[in-house]
This record gives sequence, structure tokens and C-alpha cells, in this order.
Amino acid sequence: MNTLLIEVSGFTFSIKQLLFSGVINGYFCKVILHMGDWKKDIASFHHQFEAGELNESEMDKDPILQFEKWFAIAMEQKVEEQNSFVLSTATLTGIPSARVVLLKSVDANGFIFFTNYESRKGKELEENPFASMTFYWPTLHRQIRIEGEVKRVTEQESKEYFHSRPKASQAGAWVSPQSSPISSRKELEEKHAAFMSKHESQEIPAPEHWGGYRILPKHIEFWQGRTNRLHDRLAYTLDKGKWRIYRMAP
Ligand SMILES: Cc1cc2nc3c(=O)[nH]c(=O)nc-3n(C[C@H](O)[C@H](O)[C@H](O)COP(=O)(O)O)c2cc1C
Repeated sequence: MNTLLIEVSGFTFSIKQLLFSGVINGYFCKVILHMGDWKKDIASFHHQFEAGELNESEMDKDPILQFEKWFAIAMEQKVEEQNSFVLSTATLTGIPSARVVLLKSVDANGFIFFTNYESRKGKELEENPFASMTFYWPTLHRQIRIEGEVKRVTEQESKEYFHSRPKASQAGAWVSPQSSPISSRKELEEKHAAFMSKHESQEIPAPEHWGGYRILPKHIEFWQGRTNRLHDRLAYTLDKGKWRIYRMAP
């Protein structure tokens, strides 16, 4: 049987999509919609940012309090997954790695997230205890960059947070050797189910290999998208125990 191929072009930002395939009048027909080549289109994506502006006079002297103000606005504006951020770490020889984690708490000393201490990030932080955090809230056209030294939170803080999580997540922290190769998903799920049934009627203790880190900021930058690429960037740097604030070129 002959094949009749009909292709329709014109739409952007997606991949080739099969609309129909079947036999019409003895011809096997395949109708494919070409949705454009996003690799070409991506270079021409331009956003105009008009959500707000940043004035030195309106910024808090303390960048952690300023962060809290922005966080409250993001919450009010229902920014999706606003507590997720890119955590960047590096080995002692300077090889970087980055991943998304969740901010779980902020206090006067810094920013707290939880993880497996034996994961890749955990190992890198043990040998090189410095990290950066990057928040991006697209609907507000805002970015926050935070850099500083990293210290483990106290065991008590880790335990308290661990026990506040759902039991199935607690079990997950025990059975998943985060960042290590595993043989199959099936094995992981079986380990999880066995762990859950073993602890059905008992409390799951907090594992020693799991807990929180606090990033003690030395540098924090608030970025607000503006028109014509003339964005606002106000940075704070800790200088002999005092925060110095200055504007940076976008
Ligand atoms: C939205 C989101 C939130 C995440 N939150 C965490 C988290 O709070 N802690 C964590 O260890 N991993 C979290 N992850 C998984 C990490 O991105 C990463 O896969 C994992 O921590 C292993 O990273 P590593 O191998 O670099 O150590 C999250 C992933 C996403 C996409």
C-alpha cells in the first residue's frame, strides 16, 4: 500500500505532532503537524519587564528582612513554588554543581534547607562549605541571589523538622541513598514499603545522615526586571559586620 504523507507547518514552540494515521481510499495516510523549531525561536524570546522598580530608599537596611518582605509579596501574589531555589555548590577544586531545593525556614542568621548529608551536595558542602542560592519569580520579574558560608543546623532543629514531615516522606529519607546509583525503581519502592510496614505502629527516628543546612549570607542581591534591559539591581555585602548597600549595572 502506498503511503500519503501530509505535513502542515506554521505553529511555534512545540514539536512535530502526529494528527492522524489510517487508511483513506486505499492509501495509508499520515498527517503530521510541524509545530516549528523552538531552537530557532528561543533566541528571539524577549520579555519586557514592567512589574515594578527598586529604590534604595525603600529597601530595608537588613537584607534578610528585605528578603522576608519580598517573600511575603510573592506569597500574596501566589507565586508558584516560591520557596524553591537553585542551590549551587562546588568541590574543593572548584567544580560546580547545582540543583533545586526548598527553603524551609529563614531566621536572623540565615536560610535553611534540608537534605541528605551524604548526597552530592552534602559531600560538596562538607569539603567546601560555601554555597549560593538563586530564587527566580517570573510573574514578579524578580530574582534574588544569596551567597555565603554553610553550616549544619543543630541536631535538634533537624529532628524537629524531620518529625513534622509525613511518615511516608520520613521513610523516603531512610531508604533513598540520595545521589548514589540504584539498581531499579522497583527495589526502591520495595524497600520503602518494607520500611513503612516495619514502622507501621512506631515512630521513625530521624536518620543521622539527613538534616538541615543554614546558609549564612555574606552577599545578597535583589533584581527587579525593568524595561529596555535597564533592570534594577541592589546588592548588600557584609563588611566588618555591617551591611553595605549599593546599586549594580544590569
Ligand atoms: C521543586 C524541587 C524541590 C526539591 N527540594 C529538595 C529539597 O528540599 N531537598 C533535597 O535534598 N532535594 C530536593 N529536590 C531534589 C534535588 O533537586 C536533587 O535532585 C537532590 O537533592 C539530589 O541532588 P544532589 O545529587 O546534587 O545532591 C527538589 C527538587 C525539586 C525539583
